Amino acid sequence: MMEKPLIHINHVTFSWDVEPVLEDVDLKIYDRDFIGIIGPNGGGKTTLVKIIMGLIQPLKGKVYFREDLPRLKRPIGYLPQVKTLDKQFPITVIDVVRSGSLMRHNPFSSASEEKERALELLGEMGIGHLRKRAAGELSGGQMQRVFLCRALISDPRVLILDEPGTFVDNRFEGEFFERLKALNEKMAILLVSHDVGTITSFVKTIACVNRKLHYHHSAVLTPEDLKAYNCPIQVISHGDIPHTILEKHNGHA
Ligand SMILES: Nc1ncnc2c1ncn2[C@@H]1O[C@H](COP(=O)(O)OP(=O)(O)OP(=O)(O)O)[C@@H](O)[C@H]1O
Ligand SMILES: [Mg+2]
Repeated sequence: MMEKPLIHINHVTFSWDVEPVLEDVDLKIYDRDFIGIIGPNGGGKTTLVKIIMGLIQPLKGKVYFREDLPRLKRPIGYLPQVKTLDKQFPITVIDVVRSGSLMRHNPFSSASEEKERALELLGEMGIGHLRKRAAGELSGGQMQRVFLCRALISDPRVLILDEPGTFVDNRFEGEFFERLKALNEKMAILLVSHDVGTITSFVKTIACVNRKLHYHHSAVLTPEDLKAYNCPIQVISHGDIPHTILEKHNGHA
């Protein structure tokens, strides 16, 4: 029997004003998928993520959730695109993490369990010592780890990360991707990133978003693919690029 997708973005069109930002976008997200979402600035990646999260409604089409994922409970962990908090914003690190569980009302978890889980996550991320700090005082990289903890506190079935690498330094990067790989044993992951070179060695498949969505059923892209969808080809011309990115698709002439 065919497995049912966790989430089906069914022929979605969206526009902020006149021109469509997303046009007839169709994507199925299955258990344990690890999808890299790439595309140029303004291509519609964050807009797509917001549609999946239900923060904005499509003009046409619909997002379906598998029956065991009732939308109201939002079993999706979401790390939004770069936010540096106002330096004065009066919220502690641990409260930022705990705020992630507001999205899901779990009658079986108590406030103390939730706090314990938040501390555990911060510890795993190597920032337990920052728990009482004002969130606004953190560096971008520290903040991103806090947001990852926040995204994970509700034990999501799907984890969506919008440009999590922006502030991540080289030392943390490897660790970060290893952690995502481990998380992928338990949940589907959607990773929006400009860093095509790095993500192709971690993700299983790639979706290129530039108004339309082009889905590659592997992490292998040809330069022609990238050009055709106006993907950020410049990023593959430097750095330590896995050679697979230059392989041809099967069946290509
Ligand atoms: N709140 C908004 N109101 C009006 N237009 C918006 C809004 N958010 C995004 N847009 C426009 O929609 C288009 C797609 O933006 P989006 O943020 O989805 O792109 P993106 O692929 O995430 O880009 P980036 O790589 O820079 O993060 C852009 O032209 C942008 O200006
Ligand atoms: Mg974006």
